[in-house]
Amino acid sequence: MITQNMQDKESNNLNSISIGNVKIHSNVVSAPMAGITDYVLRKLIRKYSKDCLLTTEMISSEALVQREDCHIVKTDDEEIPVSFQISGHKPHLVAKSAQILADKATIIDINMGCPVNKVMKATDGCALMKSPDVAASLVRAVKEVVDLPVTCKFRLGINQNCINFIDFAVKMQEAGAAAICVHARTRVQMYSGVADWKRVSALRGEIDIPYFINGDIVSVETAEQAMNDSLADGLAVGRGLLGNPWLPAQIDEYLKFGKKPEEKSIEEKLSVLKEHLDAEIAFRGELNGIKFFRKFYPYYIKGLRGASEFRGRLVTEENYEKIISILQEIKNA
Ligand SMILES: Cc1cc2nc3c(=O)[nH]c(=O)nc-3n(C[C@H](O)[C@H](O)[C@H](O)COP(=O)(O)O)c2cc1C
Repeated sequence: MITQNMQDKESNNLNSISIGNVKIHSNVVSAPMAGITDYVLRKLIRKYSKDCLLTTEMISSEALVQREDCHIVKTDDEEIPVSFQISGHKPHLVAKSAQILADKATIIDINMGCPVNKVMKATDGCALMKSPDVAASLVRAVKEVVDLPVTCKFRLGINQNCINFIDFAVKMQEAGAAAICVHARTRVQMYSGVADWKRVSALRGEIDIPYFINGDIVSVETAEQAMNDSLADGLAVGRGLLGNPWLPAQIDEYLKFGKKPEEKSIEEKLSVLKEHLDAEIAFRGELNGIKFFRKFYPYYIKGLRGASEFRGRLVTEENYEKIISILQEIKNA
């Protein structure tokens, strides 16, 4: 059961959440993942969940202002509500990017949590947690030029000696952020160690805007626990989406109605794998689509009989017909 504390919150409940003037009829967000949550995967997630908030991959403001029509910004009306995530540290570029994206986006999100060295060196991503004034100036700059809610996604802090997410959240709210999402790890942890959901509960009472909990939510049970521990208004699912595009819908149904999901059959998993692969091929062309898709096979076939041998063959295969025949072998195994 979700604690009463959550259900009693004034403007948000387990059926919907208000982010600025946008009402989302779900508490579940698909987290941004570069190279993963492309147009194709988002559409697949949407097929199962008509209400969850989708998020794009991180879009570099430096790159977008040079080239506005890259495939990363592709979307369509079926995706709505969709949050477009921008990275950068220069207010004029981040604001310009938000303007470019404004007619496609329901919400503009700013990346303040990416831990990778290249991004940190550019003083983007989680490096912004070291410069809250710069981070706040990005929120203000976007708000000045677009009439959409602006949100921020960040971490607990840079390391265990520098946990500043509460002050940082307050500052982003003051700058005009309509919601925040906290990945309950530090920058130094990258993606390992356990997400500290309980720690994030300290935000309750410190800010008035909704906050989302993120990190290690991979099932309906972990979703419920993360919500209870963090006292958050909603949650964002990242890696749990891999091979599991139905997870946001399952979490949503569980949080709203207590409905436990049924295990997907091998046939269903393989059929969705093929649907995902075919859509990537349609989006990127045959060879690029096949190569791009390699990262997804392990997740879709995990736990199936002979998975490791099949995985080895699938991730090296470039011929579509041969891939389909390996999928048939998996079904018959
Ligand atoms: C491959 C990969 C790419 C990611 N790309 C982004 C990104 O573009 N923007 C972002 O804010 N977070 C990004 N993240 C972080 C996720 O959104 C999420 O915060 C993190 O994976 C923790 O959640 P999880 O345990 O549910 O995966 C990425 C994570 C992974 C694994």
